[in-house]
Amino acid sequence: MSESTIGIIVNGATGRMGYRQHLVRSLLAIRDQGGVVTSDGSRQQIEIMIIGRNEVTLKELADKHGIEHYTTDLDAALADPRWQIYFDALVTQARVKGIKKAIAAGKHVYTEKPTAESSEEAFELARLATEAGIKNGVVHDKLYLPGLQKLKRLIDSGFFGQILSVRGEFGYWVFEGDWQDAQRPSWNYRSEDGGGIIVDMFPHWNYVFENLFGRVESVYARAATHIPTRVGEDGQPYKATADDAAYGVFDLAGGIVAQVNSSWVVRVDRKELVEFQVDGTLGSAVVGLFGAKIQPRNATPRPTWNPDLAETHDYTADWLEIPTNDVFENGFKTQWEQFLLHVIEDAPHPYDFLAGARGVLLAEAGLESNATGRRIDLPNS
Ligand SMILES: NC(=O)c1ccc[n+]([C@@H]2O[C@H](COP(=O)([O-])OP(=O)(O)OC[C@H]3O[C@@H](n4cnc5c(N)ncnc54)[C@H](O)[C@@H]3O)[C@@H](O)[C@H]2O)c1
Repeated sequence: MSESTIGIIVNGATGRMGYRQHLVRSLLAIRDQGGVVTSDGSRQQIEIMIIGRNEVTLKELADKHGIEHYTTDLDAALADPRWQIYFDALVTQARVKGIKKAIAAGKHVYTEKPTAESSEEAFELARLATEAGIKNGVVHDKLYLPGLQKLKRLIDSGFFGQILSVRGEFGYWVFEGDWQDAQRPSWNYRSEDGGGIIVDMFPHWNYVFENLFGRVESVYARAATHIPTRVGEDGQPYKATADDAAYGVFDLAGGIVAQVNSSWVVRVDRKELVEFQVDGTLGSAVVGLFGAKIQPRNATPRPTWNPDLAETHDYTADWLEIPTNDVFENGFKTQWEQFLLHVIEDAPHPYDFLAGARGVLLAEAGLESNATGRRIDLPNS
């Protein structure tokens, strides 16, 4: 390992996100391309240390991908100055402990969201990171989706005029685990294990809102546990204690009203697993993970309500597909490269622990709203 190589500890490399998106699609891809390209055009290589609880699994993974370093001893890895960055993709419940240790060891920290289970802990992590003077970042992957990048460009171009409202539909059917295996780990459906769709998805919606439209000023949320019993990885039924759907209304700065349905209990009748419709005075857009289509004010049809006549107009044909003018890489990889450049040459990476804490705060406020039936105001933090 040469002196200029950036050493990265990857904790949770065996998990769904840690393995697929972060290790394989991001870090190994960066390693295999010869490192990250810095502002002077040179490349800075990375070295990876994977951490987990099971040595056999780690060795298998390391052998498969040509990773030299693996250990079950986090403390020893953190004590080794070769490793400058700590990355955490553990289950949410285990996150704070590892990050606190990494901060205390002087490592720069990058992490999956949510950064903590409570906003108190999330803001504490932000404070500790600032006090320690370490670089810190939180995954904001949805912002890097081609569909949302196209939306950002539409906003920046002034296409919408005044943005009035945002409607989001996120979700799909997650099998109960009895007659077909569930597509998501069972801890997601137990609140005592850090699960729940509000805790999972509201941190995403928070950064999408604050980076594209305006900060969230208040939230009203109705959560539900539609499927009360699921079957786990061990084939045994368990009680689903966490919310598997959340119906939220968010007031955004500037008077924009946003509504987002988040659900693991919905059958998909849209082009993509997440879609946002944005309506503005001068035009509207519908964007998904990849696609984006628009309807400008001066190409808006003139519907008239008539329950006596069957519809003959094809409203979906009124939209214009936005071309893909850019090459979009995997968003997790792009953000990793930004964070690495933030560490290497202080390049901008605004998605820090404080941003992560605001996401946790929104999730907390969503849960409070559901419990009390009230709309909850959020401080400007
Ligand atoms: N950015 C995104 O789009 C996105 C999507 C899904 C999940 N996530 C987040 O990623 C994190 C991991 O989710 P996942 O779906 O990969 O989960 P997972 O269950 O597949 O993986 C969790 C990892 O944590 C480890 N782990 C479990 N319990 C542990 C404990 N007590 N101590 C130490 N390690 C433990 C597991 O071995 C595994 O490596 C969660 O915080 C989740 O919110 C983010």
